[in-house]
Amino acid sequence: MRLLGKSALITGAARGIGLEFARAYLAEGATVTIADINGDAATSAAKSLGERAHAVQMDVTDQTSIEAGFAQAVDQMGKLDILINNAALFSACPITEISRADYDRLFAVNVSGTLFCLQAAARQMIAQGHGGKIINMASQAGRRGEALVAVYCATKAAVISLTQSAGMNLISHGINVNAIAPGVVDGEHWDGVDAFFAKYENRPLGEKKRVVGEAVPFGRMGTAQDLTGMAIFLATDEAKYIVAQCYGVDGGNWMA
Ligand SMILES: NC(=O)c1ccc[n+]([C@@H]2O[C@H](COP(=O)([O-])OP(=O)(O)OC[C@H]3O[C@@H](n4cnc5c(N)ncnc54)[C@H](O)[C@@H]3O)[C@@H](O)[C@H]2O)c1
Repeated sequence: MRLLGKSALITGAARGIGLEFARAYLAEGATVTIADINGDAATSAAKSLGERAHAVQMDVTDQTSIEAGFAQAVDQMGKLDILINNAALFSACPITEISRADYDRLFAVNVSGTLFCLQAAARQMIAQGHGGKIINMASQAGRRGEALVAVYCATKAAVISLTQSAGMNLISHGINVNAIAPGVVDGEHWDGVDAFFAKYENRPLGEKKRVVGEAVPFGRMGTAQDLTGMAIFLATDEAKYIVAQCYGVDGGNWMA
């Protein structure tokens, strides 16, 4: 068990990749708090995962909610060793149709949410005095633009940049900040992405998903399970000399 005795908070973990991270961390011996804006889903996810899984309702766009959520998580788990900044929103449309409201919504969750959860975790870890691990969920979308995905791509580029700055700033406290950049990962999130492309590229539902899956050099879309190895590794002491990096776990998709 590689995370025995560790306490982790994972944002946006009521479903999808975050939920799979929670499952994998629990299997490695960690205690986990699932923090999600959907409090009911977080609670039922935690219940289904057993007694080392806890839930808090947290909106990562709201500073009061962040502070209350981290306090509750530390109360429940006794300490905080690991944060995975996983909560995010996606949207797509041509540049001429981007609304300020949508831009603000995505930056509030994906960028401000990441920064201020990272800050709350860092303050707690510094107070505890024995370092910690912070993993930000970036994306291949943060490494290059996409015609219909300007805002989401920009938010994920910002996540990579924040990872670099925070990584350099916090390593003096023994806190490793790194990021994971998935490619295309099957799940409810991608059903939404597929629907955006169906609308703007005039495709039947499901076609974009099939096409992007076939284009991945590995031969298929990723699964949440494909990402858990990196999420576990970055949270272990084996990764202690890794600082401010962003790792692609994408079946070769970005390289292609
Ligand atoms: N699925 C992919 O193909 C893919 C690819 C690259 C990167 N990623 C990244 O991986 C991460 C997880 O993706 P996923 O596919 O599991 O997404 P998802 O949409 O399935 O899950 C996101 C979760 O975040 C929660 N959330 C949304 N707004 C929130 C808020 N304000 N406060 C707290 N929680 C909030 C949602 O309730 C949901 O449970 C995201 O950062 C995403 O950008 C996903």
